[in-house]
Amino acid sequence: MEGVYKLSLLSLFAAAVMVSSTVEVPTADSDEVWLKRAEDAKKAAREAYNPNPQEVLDHCNTHVHLATDGSNSTRRDLHRYHGPCTATNPIDQCWRCQKDWARNRMRLADCSLGFGRHATGGKGGKIYVVTDPSDDDMVNPKPGTLRYAAIQPGPLWITFAHDMIIKLSEELIMTSNKTVDGRGAQVHIAYGASFMLQFVNNVIIHGLHIHDIKSGNGGVIRSSIDHYGYRTKSDGDGISLFGATNVWIDHISMSNCQDGLIDAIEGSTAITISNCHFTHHNEAMLFGASDSYSEDSIMQMTLAFNHFGQGLVQRMPRCRWGFVHIVNNDYTHWLMYAIGGSTHPTILSQGNRFIAPPNPNAKEVTKRDYAPESVWKSWLWKSEGDLMMNGAFFTQSGNPNQALTSKGSDLVAAKPGAYVSSLTRYSGALNCIKKQPC
Ligand SMILES: *[C@@H]1O[C@H](CO)[C@@H](O)[C@H](O)[C@H]1NC(C)=O
Ligand SMILES: *[C@@H]1O[C@H](CO)[C@@H](O)[C@H](O)[C@H]1NC(C)=O
Repeated sequence: MEGVYKLSLLSLFAAAVMVSSTVEVPTADSDEVWLKRAEDAKKAAREAYNPNPQEVLDHCNTHVHLATDGSNSTRRDLHRYHGPCTATNPIDQCWRCQKDWARNRMRLADCSLGFGRHATGGKGGKIYVVTDPSDDDMVNPKPGTLRYAAIQPGPLWITFAHDMIIKLSEELIMTSNKTVDGRGAQVHIAYGASFMLQFVNNVIIHGLHIHDIKSGNGGVIRSSIDHYGYRTKSDGDGISLFGATNVWIDHISMSNCQDGLIDAIEGSTAITISNCHFTHHNEAMLFGASDSYSEDSIMQMTLAFNHFGQGLVQRMPRCRWGFVHIVNNDYTHWLMYAIGGSTHPTILSQGNRFIAPPNPNAKEVTKRDYAPESVWKSWLWKSEGDLMMNGAFFTQSGNPNQALTSKGSDLVAAKPGAYVSSLTRYSGALNCIKKQPC
């Protein structure tokens, strides 16, 4: 949802004041708490911003080579693994081959690549087990529920006792330093509201099914153990990143949400979205909601090893202002276009596979909005090593000699698009069984 976002913080305060006569809400306090969080979030984003993004690209691409060029002797040292393993990309090879993954869950925190690779989530904290799928009390959530876990202070590694469907009554307001780890159970966040990562730092979300998300009505919701306040209606995103920093979203299966699948706005940065499987959705991902919000130029995002599959239409992603590295993803379906944007985002597309739809008018991977060619021709949008099928084509722009590409520089080239079906083979939520390699 565009445009509306900018005002949501203000309207939140206004709403808090409006309802103060009817509902018992600590209004002044809620302003202060959220303002402080916004301020901390901006500081975290500035600290996480990498002025040398080439370094992150190189690090990621190097690891893909090490994971796929089996003969390289450094591979074993890197992954400490000896024996057959079906994990096909460097993130997965870091943990999936190990039988004791369930006793050593926090190892996952060392496995990310790309701009979100410093996210450690709940590493170093306690393990929390969600036993109760209910979500009835927004102000005093019951121990054992996901909402209770999400508001705890300090690092926490959140797991699930068994398969469950969690229908969230309102948006789930996450706090910093958390991992939500669905491995070992089939966990569906579905038919209700979903994750809100507002002004948080350091969150990992792994191994969930998120689908059929609806907007919440809003109301009084607890956002930490010592704060609750009035919230406006939520948008109905699968995962909403609002001024969030150091976030890693991995192995999520997502489809059919009311708004976006993943939206990242309000200066969110240092984010990796990997190994996800996206299906059945119109506007998949929005990175930056406003052409006038220049603070989104701090955005640095990596999309790697994702499968953009059946029933997708557009925005995979749609970007503004920031820097997006789109590497080794499989785009097998789109109806309108795959990658788009406005307001001069930098888009580096490397080693993806793009299979265009039959429609002769939808073969172009890219789409630029709100700018004539005389303007967008200076935006840096590059395609390197992408595999184009069924007539797909990527319209590049920007200075061809700009240092961000591997041509004519010493940057590591991405693994070519021909490897993508292997690299993304296990995208989406996995079915991990304890005491077995996953
Ligand atoms: C394999 O390892 C050597 C050093 O041991 C390194 O120079 C080379 O680049 C590596 N190959 C790949 C494909 O990463
Ligand atoms: C998150 O963890 C870091 C490192 O332990 C700590 O400095 C920071 O204060 C924590 N943030 C919150 C909001 O608890």
